[in-house]
Amino acid sequence: MDYTRQPLRIKIQKVVRYVRLFGLTRTWVKVQANCHMKRQFSHRQSMPAPAGSTGKHVGILGCGTFAYANVAYYVHKKYGAVIRGVMDTDLKRAISLGQRYRAEYYTTCADDVINDPHIDLVYIVSNHASHAEYAIAAIKQGKAVHIEKPHVVSEDQLVRLCAAIRAYKGRVRIGFNRPESELGLLLKRYVDAQSGPAMLNWFVAGHAIAADHWYFSEQEGGRILGNLCHWIDFTLRLIPEASRFPVQLTPVRSYQSDCDISVSYLFADGSIATITFSAKGHTFEGVREALNVHKGNLLASLTDFKTLRLDITETVIRRRLWVRDHGHKRSVQNSYLMLSEPSKQETIRMIWETGYLMLKTREALETSSVIQVTGLENF
Ligand SMILES: NC(=O)c1ccc[n+]([C@@H]2O[C@H](COP(=O)([O-])OP(=O)(O)OC[C@H]3O[C@@H](n4cnc5c(N)ncnc54)[C@H](O)[C@@H]3O)[C@@H](O)[C@H]2O)c1
Repeated sequence: MDYTRQPLRIKIQKVVRYVRLFGLTRTWVKVQANCHMKRQFSHRQSMPAPAGSTGKHVGILGCGTFAYANVAYYVHKKYGAVIRGVMDTDLKRAISLGQRYRAEYYTTCADDVINDPHIDLVYIVSNHASHAEYAIAAIKQGKAVHIEKPHVVSEDQLVRLCAAIRAYKGRVRIGFNRPESELGLLLKRYVDAQSGPAMLNWFVAGHAIAADHWYFSEQEGGRILGNLCHWIDFTLRLIPEASRFPVQLTPVRSYQSDCDISVSYLFADGSIATITFSAKGHTFEGVREALNVHKGNLLASLTDFKTLRLDITETVIRRRLWVRDHGHKRSVQNSYLMLSEPSKQETIRMIWETGYLMLKTREALETSSVIQVTGLENF
């Protein structure tokens, strides 16, 4: 829903609710991001990059809502004015984001950023079909790359992306932020401490997206790649690496293959996970998500990345955050740290396996068929 077009009463209610959920600063940035998407400029042409180095060294491809409110915001907040070049196919967005975060230049041509010798880190925050193509080009130029989710929209892209990482020793991280949230990290620590197979159950109410939104375009991958990938990825990371594959996927769907669906995963160690994704009316508080986990002596219950209850035999641990933390800040800033800390990079195994599992999930739902998914060994 476009809140900038709603009556004043609804706008105020939304802002008040968001302040309670996300805090004052985050709400303000989200409001600014909405205005950013509508800003108009008389400029008709890109601004050329300065000839030499200015000390700024980060590039951004795609200057929409998420780039403005999360990627550029968290990079700028922590590391200062380090953004050098920003690009969007819509020049107005590039100008607006570039001005707000003091970039040296804005452009509508991705190659300006990808071939800029003074940029060593590129954040890819554009439409889904372009992610892997931009990433491969940037990896070939020796840049470190943060790819927003989903990193690929097809198996062909996944194969080419992994091949490029291997051939050029690419440094890559993907914008799967939930495992890097405060409660996500805590939950994983407790889950990993238990042995035996796990039982995981997600209930997610997705926010309403208009039928003509670009997420639904054929080439962009729909909501399985656009949204469900978050919970597929986090689920995979909660299963020990050696116990994951082969995975058996069982889909349940009704009219659509990517809304109002449920999919179950049977992992190699006998762990079972189910993700139920409901997408119906409007969710005023954004995406709502609940996870229940049972493993060994642990019973865990996570709600909206704001509250977590852990029961370990007789011990009960409760965590309640002031505001929701989906891990965006850590995800964006860890990608910056990838430049100096190689351990922050994602492994090819993870990039392949999480990508392959989400692609196979989409296939299972589209064809209503049970599918066996193998791990990296078969790549
Ligand atoms: N990690 C998360 O929680 C999270 C949340 C929201 C969005 N995202 C991701 O961020 C990305 C952007 O989403 P958004 O919500 O900002 O969407 P948006 O529609 O607000 O912005 C997308 C921007 O990309 C631009 N664009 C379109 N095609 C392009 C191309 N080929 N090259 C460069 N720019 C292009 C558009 O003009 C627009 O400005 C998507 O990959 C989305 O999945 C991640």
